[in-house]
Amino acid sequence: MKKRFLMTPGPTQIPPEVLLAAAQPIIHHRTAEYSELFARVIEGLKLVFQTENDVLFFASSGTGAMESAVVNLGSPGDRVLVCSSGKFGERWHQLAETYGLEAELLSYEYGQPVKPEDIADALDDGAGYKAVYVTHSETSTGVVNDIEAIGAIVKDHEAVLVADAVSGLGSAELKTDEWHVDVVVAGSQKALMLPPGLGFASVSEKAWALAEQSTIPKYYLDWKKARAGIRQEKPTTPFTPAVSLTVALDAALKMMREEGLDSLFARHRAMGRASREAIKAMGLELFSPDDERCSSVTSVLMPAGVDDGQLRTLMRDKYGVQVAGGQGSMKGNIFRIGHCGYYNYSDIIVTITALELALRELGHPLEPGAGVARAEEVFAEEGS
Ligand SMILES: Cc1ncc(COP(=O)(O)O)c(C=O)c1O
Repeated sequence: MKKRFLMTPGPTQIPPEVLLAAAQPIIHHRTAEYSELFARVIEGLKLVFQTENDVLFFASSGTGAMESAVVNLGSPGDRVLVCSSGKFGERWHQLAETYGLEAELLSYEYGQPVKPEDIADALDDGAGYKAVYVTHSETSTGVVNDIEAIGAIVKDHEAVLVADAVSGLGSAELKTDEWHVDVVVAGSQKALMLPPGLGFASVSEKAWALAEQSTIPKYYLDWKKARAGIRQEKPTTPFTPAVSLTVALDAALKMMREEGLDSLFARHRAMGRASREAIKAMGLELFSPDDERCSSVTSVLMPAGVDDGQLRTLMRDKYGVQVAGGQGSMKGNIFRIGHCGYYNYSDIIVTITALELALRELGHPLEPGAGVARAEEVFAEEGS
């Protein structure tokens, strides 16, 4: 018998309540029942996004929501600033170039955070940027950028601030309105505790004003169509929605409301800290910064002499724990423990145990139980 622990930063584990909700008989989307559900989830999303703005959503993965934030804000030739220190920052750049934007790239090494002061300098140089694209939680490295500081800079400029919070929304603090983030995009399969298949975008008034001028062609991802549906007396979507995922979202939002945002972020901070401390106690080296903001993903340098494929396969096939490998230029050099969403201390303890067992089996020297003991101490201190 094998128990499976999916410890990747997307897809993530799904609570039974949410799975059961998704298994309900389908309802028709042009009915009062669906309108009520739809209106309720839009309100629930505002709470998690910490915004008063409409939150639009699409039947797409997170990249669809990212693409929507390029095609709805941009016009060919617009100058935009893209900040990147990982695979998903690079995706903003690829999207901007795909649609003919003139994208200036502020690029940092994988594992480094974006420096807000560089954004201030770039915006002050008179280039007339229309938008600044950043990544909140850079899933490929575990870095969580200082969106609050970036928002404080961008708000005084013409540019709108767009943050990719696909893995960070609901696991690392992000105060959309208070921090002046004009557009936040997210996806369903991370801290929202759902299967893959929904992409979200919250849009501020400043962003809507830019969207009014946008000339990039769009149809399915057109924000105006989505907003018109939300604003109807009986709210609905312009196209057939992912009905079962919307029902599941309703259940997930209920769980998040019941837990409360403060507890939810405290739980994630504890898991991040326990993971980092355990890794250090095992004598391994963190790749993600040792920073309490990094509460979605913990990334770890592959110990010398240990093969990435062997380690992760052993952890998965023998101990049932699936962690993620590195992406892009980090492939083979790091592994990543995802803890965004339906996770608590028990998942972290099991993951660290499996890591210790697998490393010992691969001949890597370590003191048995050192990582688990340290994680336990942290959870005790955090009151988890
Ligand atoms: C930060 C970030 N942005 C964008 C994406 C892309 O989302 P999707 O794979 O759902 O299209 C991911 C997925 O891992 C992500 O973590």
